[in-house]
Amino acid sequence: MIKTPRFTQLQLADPGNEQHELITGLTAAAAHFSPKYFYDLLGSRLFDAITCLPEYYPTRTEAGILRNQGEKLASVVPHEAVLIDLGAGNCKKGMSLFDFIHPSRYVAVDISVDFLREALEEVQRQHPDMTLDGLGEDFSTEFRLPSELRLNPETPKVFFYPGSSISNFGPDEALVFLKQIQAYCVKNPKSGLLIGVDLVKDKATLEAAYDDALGVTAAFNKNALLNINQRIGADFALADWAHVALFNTEQLRIEMHLEAVRDATVHWTAQGDGKRTFRQGDRIHSENSYKWLKSSFEALLREAGFKDVTAFTDENEWFSLFWAS
Ligand code: AVI
Repeated sequence: MIKTPRFTQLQLADPGNEQHELITGLTAAAAHFSPKYFYDLLGSRLFDAITCLPEYYPTRTEAGILRNQGEKLASVVPHEAVLIDLGAGNCKKGMSLFDFIHPSRYVAVDISVDFLREALEEVQRQHPDMTLDGLGEDFSTEFRLPSELRLNPETPKVFFYPGSSISNFGPDEALVFLKQIQAYCVKNPKSGLLIGVDLVKDKATLEAAYDDALGVTAAFNKNALLNINQRIGADFALADWAHVALFNTEQLRIEMHLEAVRDATVHWTAQGDGKRTFRQGDRIHSENSYKWLKSSFEALLREAGFKDVTAFTDENEWFSLFWAS
């Protein structure tokens, strides 16, 4: 029998709530929106392009760790477990683990369901015998595995959260998230989390990674405005906005903003008509990407309840993969 991926879609945030959240953020004294609004179909493709940029070191550094230390990693991560890929995107990173840990089943979770559907169909073509599940979920506020997946709590599970996606969480939110994952691991001592974390490094390298010469990250940042235009019936004009990325050395985070290059009034029709005038130089804060010291992240994993932690790091110590069980 030919296998096909099964899809489960959790109720993604209610459009009314999202509109409320967006309008509240845009009208706040310090205007902001959640980075989840980057990931419509075009935004997911732009993010894929970012991962190929010479300045954006995280993806290739993490891939290098997996390539060079895959055998070592395979000696601590359980084989034939259920692999749960959090923020699977194009599923390439998840697939890169298949040869090392031979998962019995692959569950790909992503907010961008259309993008995930295309990616999982390709995974199934390449691995026709594997049981595949796609799960449409926005776990930016809470992570849960739906009962529809029929996962036995005692089956070993490998949660895979690569690419330093944890960077979008501040330290307190990261701890909450890690505790939620840890709670799914307690029933089987082999279960655990394989997580990629971007480490603190020099400011110039960090800022170049978020402000590349080709302007792909700028397009990624501005595309969120197009997505917001769709969602709340707004009229952001891209020409009015410039991409800004800077490393905040106190908070240890890259901040991305959109800065008004001239006075601009933005109108929207959702939830009753509204508008806001931005003055030249005003900014909308669109993303935080936290960078960690290896020792601080290891301490966070322990605080979340993980007992055994192993770190796999590249030779420059730019990025670390942690196995926490
Ligand atoms: C998804 N996340 C980990 C990326 C990062 O590096 O913080 C998102 C990104 N934003 C701009 N470039 C990449």
